[in-house]
Amino acid sequence: GVAAAGGTALNAQASSDSSSASSSNSLVFDPDGYTILTTTVTDTDGNDHSVTYHFWKAITYVAKPVDETYQSLIVSAPVEIDGKTVDPTNAPILFANSVGGYMPSSVADATGVGAGGMSGGGGMPSGAPTGSAAPSASASASASASASNANGNTNATGGATASNQLLALAAGYVVVEPGARGRTLKNSSGEYYGTAPAAIVDLKAAVRYVKSNMGRIPGDVERIVSAGTSAGGALSSLLGASGDSPIYDKYLKEIGAADASDAIFAVGAWCPITDLEHADCAYEWNWGSNVTQSTGKVVDQTVSKELQAQFAEYQASLKLRGLSRFGALTARNYDAYLVRQYLEPSATRYLTDLSDSDRAAYLAKNTFITWSGGRAAFTWDDFLTHVGARKKTTPAFDAFDLSAGENNLFGAGTTANRHFTAYSAKNDTTGLSGKRVASDIPEKLHLMNPMFHLVEKVNGRRSKHWWIRLGTNDSDTSHVISANLAAAANGLGDEVNHLYYWDQGHGANTDPGDFITWIAKVTG
Ligand code: DHB
Repeated sequence: GVAAAGGTALNAQASSDSSSASSSNSLVFDPDGYTILTTTVTDTDGNDHSVTYHFWKAITYVAKPVDETYQSLIVSAPVEIDGKTVDPTNAPILFANSVGGYMPSSVADATGVGAGGMSGGGGMPSGAPTGSAAPSASASASASASASNANGNTNATGGATASNQLLALAAGYVVVEPGARGRTLKNSSGEYYGTAPAAIVDLKAAVRYVKSNMGRIPGDVERIVSAGTSAGGALSSLLGASGDSPIYDKYLKEIGAADASDAIFAVGAWCPITDLEHADCAYEWNWGSNVTQSTGKVVDQTVSKELQAQFAEYQASLKLRGLSRFGALTARNYDAYLVRQYLEPSATRYLTDLSDSDRAAYLAKNTFITWSGGRAAFTWDDFLTHVGARKKTTPAFDAFDLSAGENNLFGAGTTANRHFTAYSAKNDTTGLSGKRVASDIPEKLHLMNPMFHLVEKVNGRRSKHWWIRLGTNDSDTSHVISANLAAAANGLGDEVNHLYYWDQGHGANTDPGDFITWIAKVTG
């Protein structure tokens, strides 16, 4: 598998114009506007597959773009796999975003499939000052990430696992990769134009573009499966939960989104960093007993305890029931639920797959695990000790000094960073007058939270299929966030496939082949 994902242009039918996006913005997809590329995809068994595909470079997906660098998408449709002709006309569509850290994400310069799809490639620079990146700087950072990932996805040695995008292409699916505005974008007047809800509005506009081009664009627009990791996983789950919700209409109108549905068929979400206004209390409930951060700093115990108390109230208000007939989920039993539903089965799968001698060695090193009858058992407290230092300070998301990335996500106008929880506004250390969140924040929180569409205002147009994945060592957010998302969807009768990857950290995707198989199953 040496061929670069960028491949060889055998037939350059695309216009010779090298600008990154079309300037007409007619929102009519040109079925003939592709180049033909070839790539080699190494599957999860290590076998190489040669794929020839039609590639449409960046197409602006809104009629009134704010910034075409981000509001554009690329399309890849396989036509020959291992020498056999395939017809992508009615294939499922993988709609894969590459958003990380709620930052801007661009496919403007992408030259082939997989524009940034390596799992764990995104990510929020922890503790980095926010709001200072100029659009052009972000654009070039994104573009170079795209280029390296496009090439990095097919590796010369055949050792690395391919991305969702490449595996989907090799399975015969159409791959649409949208860019989206992100929180750091600032115009020449100093106004932030990529803060909430810009990214979700853009992804919805991209879905509307695809759906409005039914019959012209390759793939079955009624079988769109979204995928994303971390902030991208949050947006993927939000896209699925909020399909056709009218609360986005005014924002979609503003950017000239196509007149079509934005409901999608299924959601893939890896370590979604979502339910942000409850993430601080959920974080302390989960990681609060790990008082030391990975930096060595001991977090404020008073704040941690106050947030833990808030979590009990929040969890009770959700009235969620656990999977596997667990019953009502509360702050008191959630540890038992996580251990039984997710963590022990995760360790069991991991240990089952090891050779006898590797398993014995692992168990000798990790004596907190009882291995009996082919099953792993352990306590929550021992699990927390096993994970060790927490990644984030307290509060983890709405920092008293506005230094968290999420403070920037909720920036507006010329204000880079704002509070989005009453508790942190009250404890603000930046001189916030009134010590209250701004009046527009409650609406912005609804626009950004899948739980709003699954619990508070149940959306019948949501996705009914959910693939959710999380590493057991991931302390970027609380384990409760994914588990609540799964419980909410499951409680509505949706099909939920939620597993944890044992001993994996933030951004892990260790079963992408299973995701591809799942797509075939749920869309078949
Ligand atoms: C991401 C990570 C975070 O810790 C966070 O708070 C937001 C986003 C990310 O990797 O996308």
